Amino acid sequence: MNDKHKIIAGLILFVAIVTVPIWLNMGKAAPVPEPVLSAQAKAAKECVRETAYMKVEHMQLLDEWRDAVVREGKRVYVNSSGKEFNMSLSNTCLDCHSNKAEFCDRCHTYASADPYCWDCHIDNPKEKE
Ligand code: HEC
Ligand code: HEC
Ligand code: HEC
Repeated sequence: MNDKHKIIAGLILFVAIVTVPIWLNMGKAAPVPEPVLSAQAKAAKECVRETAYMKVEHMQLLDEWRDAVVREGKRVYVNSSGKEFNMSLSNTCLDCHSNKAEFCDRCHTYASADPYCWDCHIDNPKEKE
């Protein structure tokens, strides 16, 4: 009789210990990281296009830029407010978003996106190494 109680108590303890990781993780889904703006981006206040567009379509914009430069030899992009930008991944996007690790990479890691662009394009144009 006494043994039976001990066994049941042991089983309850065992289940409790084994499921500890589940309890500890409850309600703790990884939060979406907020992209950190560099001082220069903060000062500029605005991106090349409106933020909502950039959030979802920046890869398309980069594709457009690449095609314009590589296929048409055009290098100047004019946005809807008439502001001009040199169509360059490293010299424009990363000049302003100079904190690639906290800006681009953090978001890409969360979204499991891994752009291969940096095989060729310089990813730290501001650091001269
Ligand atoms: C195999 C090497 C290679 C890879 C990988 C690559 N590019 Fe390029 N890219 C080039 C070359 C070469 C040019 C032409 C450079 C020029 O004329 O200024 C270019 C030009 C560009 C340009 C316009 C010029 C500039 O200074 O940025 C953009 C924008 C661009 N690529 C975007 C991308 C993006 C986005 C990716 C990743 C999705 C990517 N590229 C991956 C080689 C590459
Ligand atoms: C002159 C500075 C500047 C340049 C150049 C620039 N950005 Fe931005 N970008 C900003 C600012 C400022 C914001 C935030 C705007 C806001 O908070 O509404 C931003 C926002 C973004 C966002 C959305 C981030 C979010 O909050 O979800 C993405 C993605 C982005 N930029 C990518 C790019 C890419 C790719 C390029 C090059 C094609 C680029 N930016 C060029 C200043 C810049
Ligand atoms: C707000 C989050 C966020 C920020 C900030 C952000 N990205 Fe992205 N990016 C994404 C997501 C999500 C995808 C994947 C989209 C998909 O797979 O359709 C992506 C995809 C891309 C791609 C296409 C990759 C491919 O293989 O097709 C490029 C190029 C890119 N991002 C460049 C940049 C650059 C450069 C910056 C910083 C200047 C940046 N992104 C900042 C969320 C972000």
